[in-house]
Parts: sequence; C-alpha cells; structure tokens
Amino acid sequence: MRTKLASYKVVAGSFIQSLRINGVWRTLLIVAGSFDGYAFDRRLRVRTTGIDATSEIEPQNPAASHAGLSQASRVRPLMELLQKRLNVGGGFVDFGCGRGRAMLIAAEAGFTTISGIEFCEQIHQAARDNCRRYLEFHPDHRFEVLHQDMVSFQPSVERGDRFFYFFHPADEKILAQCAENLRRFYELHQREMIIIYHNNLSRNLDFLKPFFNDFQRQEFLIRGNLFHVFTSDPTGRVTSKI
Ligand SMILES: C[S@@+](CC[C@H](N)C(=O)[O-])C[C@H]1O[C@@H](n2cnc3c(N)ncnc32)[C@H](O)[C@@H]1O
Repeated sequence: MRTKLASYKVVAGSFIQSLRINGVWRTLLIVAGSFDGYAFDRRLRVRTTGIDATSEIEPQNPAASHAGLSQASRVRPLMELLQKRLNVGGGFVDFGCGRGRAMLIAAEAGFTTISGIEFCEQIHQAARDNCRRYLEFHPDHRFEVLHQDMVSFQPSVERGDRFFYFFHPADEKILAQCAENLRRFYELHQREMIIIYHNNLSRNLDFLKPFFNDFQRQEFLIRGNLFHVFTSDPTGRVTSKI
C-alpha cells in the first residue's frame, strides 16, 4: 500500500514536470498513449501494465537506490519507432525490462531474439511469465530475461545483439556504466549498433558521451514521446521521417 502511494506521488510529480517541460498538449498525448497498454495486454494475454516503485520493493538491493519507477513503454510510439523509422533486425536488448512490455513490443515489431535485464526479482518474474505466455503462441521467438544489475550485462555477438533500448531506467551513474560497456563491445567487435534512449522529461544525454563523436545522432518525437537514437552506421540507414 505504501509502495503504491509512493508510486502515485512520483507519477503526479512527473505529470507536473511534464506540463512544465513539454506543455499541455504533449503531456496529454503522452498520458493518452498510456491507455494502449491495456488493449495490448488483452490481445497478447499478458500483464505488462502497472507502475511499481522497485526501489521500495527491494530497498536492500544496491541497484534500488539508483533506479527509477518501473513503468511500461507506451505501445504505439515505440512500435512506430521500430517498425517505421528504423530497420528491424538482429537482437533487441532492453536495459531495465520491467514486466517486459518493450520486449513484447519488439517481438511484435519483428525482432525474434530479445533480451531483457531487470534487477527486481518480483518484476523480473513477471517479465518471464509474460514472455513465456507470448512464446505459447509465437514459439519461433527467443527470449532471455536476466535477473541482474544492468551494469554487469555484457552484450553478445552470438546472440546478435544490435538494438539497445533504455526507457530511462536508472540515474546517470548507472547509465554511464552501461554506455561504457556498450562502447567497449563496439571497439572490440565493430558491429552495427543502435542505441535508443527514451525519456520524456530530460534531454540530458551526457551518459552517451562515448558515442558523440562517431555515431549518427537523431531525435524522434512520436505521439508526444521523445526517443534519442544513436547509430553506428554513418551512412544513415536509420531513416529520418520526422
Ligand atoms: C521505466 S521501467 C522500463 C520498463 C521497460 N523497459 C519498458 O520500456 O516497458 C525501468 C525498469 O528498469 C529497472 N532497473 C532500474 N535500475 C536497474 C538496474 N540497475 N539493473 C536492472 N534493472 C534496473 C527498474 O526496476 C524498472 O523495472
């Protein structure tokens, strides 16, 4: 009950912050987009909707003090970004996967190899259950739901990891460590990489500094939702339709 109350307080705070930063119209678009999740869940027979203060569920976990709220990506904006603005293919990795909503959106968008990382045991279990349910009807997909701190996640060549998605899961300290790991992976393997950072309340991209010089950088505003995309392909295979 206390956890729910804390979540509502943070949501109310975010709403006011969004009004200040994004204005009324964009904030309304963002809020309206949240309701798509219920139809998505019903259609796929999963439960990805809900807001949880993971830092209160597992306060003793070192990752908790750096974590943001656990809430799901809005369905249509992320689907549109993946399907219409980017070239789907390779492995999709969700840093801080929550209940697995973005993983399932990626699956519906055409990815077949999908990984997610979540530190909170209860939420991680929910993501696993959702992916398992999805697999009952889509057995050709491959999901890996890892129960660990995202700072210790290492991308994999064998899995074909190519897309790296962050829906503002944690503070800058954690994000910067993940970005360093990704940069090391890139230096070592020189593979094509696409990093997506979704955050409607801040344009601070400092944690992605390691990619400023040689990655192509784009912003997509879709149905009020802001996505920053960094791609290693300088020829611009990321189509810019905005
Ligand atoms: C905003 S939610 C995003 C959920 C999902 N990516 C989506 O878009 O639907 C962020 C999630 O990241 C998780 N998280 C935060 N810090 C983490 C860490 N250090 N390691 C793993 N997961 C983390 C939180 O528990 C939360 O579930």
